[in-house]
Amino acid sequence: MRLEGKVCVITGAGSGMGRVAAQQFAAEGAKVVVAEYDQAAAEETVGLVTEAGGEASSVLVDVSMEGDCRRMVDHAVQTYGRIDVLYNNAGIMPAADHSVVDTDVATWDQVMAVNLRGVFLGCKYAIPQMAEQGTGSIINISSFVALLGCSVPQDAYTASKGAVLSLTRSLAVQFAPQGVRANAICPGPIETPLLMDWLVKDEEAKRIRLARNPTGRFGKPEEVVSLAIYLASDESRWTNGAALVVDGGISINYF
Ligand SMILES: NC(=O)c1ccc[n+]([C@@H]2O[C@H](COP(=O)([O-])OP(=O)(O)OC[C@H]3O[C@@H](n4cnc5c(N)ncnc54)[C@H](O)[C@@H]3O)[C@@H](O)[C@H]2O)c1
Repeated sequence: MRLEGKVCVITGAGSGMGRVAAQQFAAEGAKVVVAEYDQAAAEETVGLVTEAGGEASSVLVDVSMEGDCRRMVDHAVQTYGRIDVLYNNAGIMPAADHSVVDTDVATWDQVMAVNLRGVFLGCKYAIPQMAEQGTGSIINISSFVALLGCSVPQDAYTASKGAVLSLTRSLAVQFAPQGVRANAICPGPIETPLLMDWLVKDEEAKRIRLARNPTGRFGKPEEVVSLAIYLASDESRWTNGAALVVDGGISINYF
């Protein structure tokens, strides 16, 4: 198994890619901490993992809250003795996030608080523990939108994901000497509630995304999680500071 015995904290593991990651990491031998602010969803994920014979526990966390992120890391260390992987996956994409000219400040701040401050806070508390161990892998979920302009804008979301990429590079340089790696994944449009709930309200946005993708389809959560397993495992021990794109080719399609 590729993640045998590794303690992996996955934020936002109550849905979408985070839930699939919890299931697949556990199937690879990881002890998974499901860090989620939707308690019922978190418990459902833990149930799915344990029913399949895996090991998982949940901790109720709003990643935008400092005390919650400290508790999340404490939970991992107290329950399993260490933290090998922090998978910063939790993110939001509210419908009210549009162009800068018509996005309200509260929406902007909410997106930044979850998508960017959440990554900062998880790292703030997990990295010292990883450095003390002399090993650790940070996996930050950015997005293909961090690499491109888009005529159907979500400017707060895009800016937050761009900042996650920059932060990942800074972490990768600072903490590699202490054995802590940091990498980012930039998924293309993936079939999860986050995207599908949004596209239901915007047929044009859906049509554009499908038309632009050379594969002609949306990605599936497991097609991103397979890369995350690599980054969580020792197979990626010399992969550091990378921004890895998994998007079916949408970001390299000129026409
Ligand atoms: N779906 C896509 O097309 C796509 C593309 C690129 C990047 N992403 C990113 O991938 C990540 C996962 O997205 P998904 O599509 O699986 O979304 P999802 O909505 O299915 O799952 C997100 C999970 O995060 C949880 N969450 C939200 N805010 C939280 C908070 N403050 N604290 C703790 N948990 C919180 C939600 O309850 C949910 O369980 C996000 O960061 C998203 O921005 C998604």
